[in-house]
Amino acid sequence: MNLKEAGIDEGISEVIVTTKSGAGEPDAAPIGVITVTNDENKYFVKLYEGSRTLSNVLETNKLAVNVTDDAVLFVKAAFERLNEVHFSIFHGFPVLKEAKSWIIFDCALIEKRSGNFLFQLTPIAVKINRKEVKAINRGLNAVIEAAILATRYAITEDKREKEEMRKKMKLYDAIVEKCGGRREKEAFGILREKNWNLSRISASLSQRHANVQESTNQNSNYYWIEDR
Ligand SMILES: Cc1cc2nc3c(=O)[nH]c(=O)nc-3n(C[C@H](O)[C@H](O)[C@H](O)COP(=O)(O)O)c2cc1C
Repeated sequence: MNLKEAGIDEGISEVIVTTKSGAGEPDAAPIGVITVTNDENKYFVKLYEGSRTLSNVLETNKLAVNVTDDAVLFVKAAFERLNEVHFSIFHGFPVLKEAKSWIIFDCALIEKRSGNFLFQLTPIAVKINRKEVKAINRGLNAVIEAAILATRYAITEDKREKEEMRKKMKLYDAIVEKCGGRREKEAFGILREKNWNLSRISASLSQRHANVQESTNQNSNYYWIEDR
């Protein structure tokens, strides 16, 4: 089955996966769905140990992929329990009301390595709620990259690696400020509050943003390279 119409295409698609526990409690988390294209498309997820998503999938053998470009939903799903108002129920399974499309999959565990589990996905129900044309927004991409970094930051112990991550965060912050809309800026604000002690650098960032305005007006868009 080809899920391109529902927004899932070749490569890794960043989506919000919804699951439920054996007891029926819904959960949501950002996850990358891997699409391998041969004669026929095959779909996979790699789930890392320690998440509710993994334990729910192990219990129920099902997950729903929700396609959305809402930056705030991504960040909240990564760092908070999404409020129940966000969920609707399809044949007993939670999906996101705001999703542009969703696909419910059966999951088969095909490989278990230290720390991660690879599942192959077979679609069993698809709903396309909204088809929209939208240009690429670098602010949204930067929020997604920053959210991935933030989930890793907490479990990284190497000091140099952490410092590198902070540098990247500053870069993403500047991109969101420059290119993002309100939802992207709100999402980055949540990220700052949740995971990162960016207060130390935000003063210098504000100063940089002031400088950046000047330098972007004068020459290139690539001001953030100076940030490194
Ligand atoms: C954009 C994005 C993609 C992610 N992709 C994955 C993934 O493919 N597999 C995974 O196990 N975790 C992934 N994560 C991390 C989980 O979303 C994160 O660990 C989350 O807190 C798990 O929540 P849960 O405990 O409710 O399942 C990703 C995070 C982000 C922000």
